[in-house]
Amino acid sequence: MKRVAILISGGGSNMVRLIESMVGDHPARPVLVLSNDPAAPGLKRAQELGVPTAVVDHKLFKGDRAAFDAKLLEHLNQAEPDVVCLAGFMRILTDEFVNTFSGRMINIHPSLLPKYRGLNTHARAIEAGDEEAGCTVHLVTPELDEGPVLGQGRVPIEPGDTPEDLAARVLAVEHRLYPAVLRRFVEGDQTPIYLA
Ligand code: GRF
Repeated sequence: MKRVAILISGGGSNMVRLIESMVGDHPARPVLVLSNDPAAPGLKRAQELGVPTAVVDHKLFKGDRAAFDAKLLEHLNQAEPDVVCLAGFMRILTDEFVNTFSGRMINIHPSLLPKYRGLNTHARAIEAGDEEAGCTVHLVTPELDEGPVLGQGRVPIEPGDTPEDLAARVLAVEHRLYPAVLRRFVEGDQTPIYLA
């Protein structure tokens, strides 16, 4: 059985979908949910689902990323994950941390990468007049929102969409894509999954 740790910063709706997927004949189980924010609503959701949680409050590290990442690593080392999933984790990780999990850490990003790395992806897609948007699951490499694509889900952008409308439409496809990619990934298959 593979062991999966999930890093979150917020609501954790993707995290919930990942946890709920790891049942029955699924080859992985969730072993830890780790947040940089003690107030992240996802922590309670994880506890309700019976998954151990931990917090490393980034505010206590006052910009010392290396020390913050070292503390994250302490928790992860105890949990001994085979795979680390970033699910709405809003801190930039040091190269050293990323390299520790090279080939074993994946992220979901709310755009059709390589378009719109970074923040405010939905507003940028609407502003650009794009006809479609979506999400990408990719292997994490030291460059932000790069790394080989493991899956993408696409949605249309409708006339008059606000960034919030689009975010909700994209989130629904994130919830289908991430569990599908995780399962394939823990089975050792990195063939990308494309959802319409
Ligand atoms: C998702 O859109 C994810 O792609 C991102 O932040 C959002 C997190 O949502 N970068 P949740 O915490 O999984 O509900």
